[in-house]
Amino acid sequence: MTPDSTRLPRHVAIIMDGNGRWAQRRGLPRVDGHRRGAKSVKDVVRAAREVGLRALTLYAFSSQNWDRPPDEVATLMQLLRDYVIDERAEIMGNGIRLIAIGEVDRLPDFVRDPLLDLVRDSAGNRAMTLCLALSYGGRESIVAAARALCELATKGVIQPSDLTEARFSEALQTGGLPQLDLLIRTSGEERLSNFLLWEAAYAELYFTDTFWPDFGREHLLEALASFDGRERRFGLTREQIRSAG
Ligand code: FPP
Repeated sequence: MTPDSTRLPRHVAIIMDGNGRWAQRRGLPRVDGHRRGAKSVKDVVRAAREVGLRALTLYAFSSQNWDRPPDEVATLMQLLRDYVIDERAEIMGNGIRLIAIGEVDRLPDFVRDPLLDLVRDSAGNRAMTLCLALSYGGRESIVAAARALCELATKGVIQPSDLTEARFSEALQTGGLPQLDLLIRTSGEERLSNFLLWEAAYAELYFTDTFWPDFGREHLLEALASFDGRERRFGLTREQIRSAG
């Protein structure tokens, strides 16, 4: 089954949760859950491209994840490096533009260098944007945008009265992406965990008990079917929405 492209969310974001519990339930070290989670990333990116999503953002490493045990952080960094190296041909061959949001400068060179190489080389691709949130925090990103705008105001480049929602959205690292329509979180947890706080203002939320390492194409299609059945009102009444068609 492939969803009708006119009913697709333009931009889907995923909080890929449950890697640790997936592993622990099998008596495996947590890092094995992350390894299986990296396979789900590959499957879901391929499925997203096939169904025709315009943008997919994945919460791969939060600003707070630096405080996890050092061996877990090291494994995640290695998996990120492996991903951008191993998937380079797939990303380029399928016209995917890779971007990264978050404090990319905090990543070790062995991750940042191949990541930024692929970001640069894929910049002209148009089929889908894959956005990796790395060392990312929603509050941190809002503060960074506010700071950049304050600096422009201090230099006289903009006036406080120029600041609109649209201008602020553009100042965020997600500024070039379509509006976030659907936010998925796996593993049964139901919270945003500092992910895309501004961008999620009108997103539909979809929670599933499935752990991320078990999440694949069929689960993505289920989430898209759920989105298709939602009535989005953006603060209006049902009657207003229906009469507007
Ligand atoms: C949350 O599960 C997941 C993460 C903190 C990392 C996500 C990373 C990957 C899916 C693999 C690498 C990514 C790419 C893009 C190749 P958790 O460990 O918090 O799970 P738990 O809540 O069960 O402990």
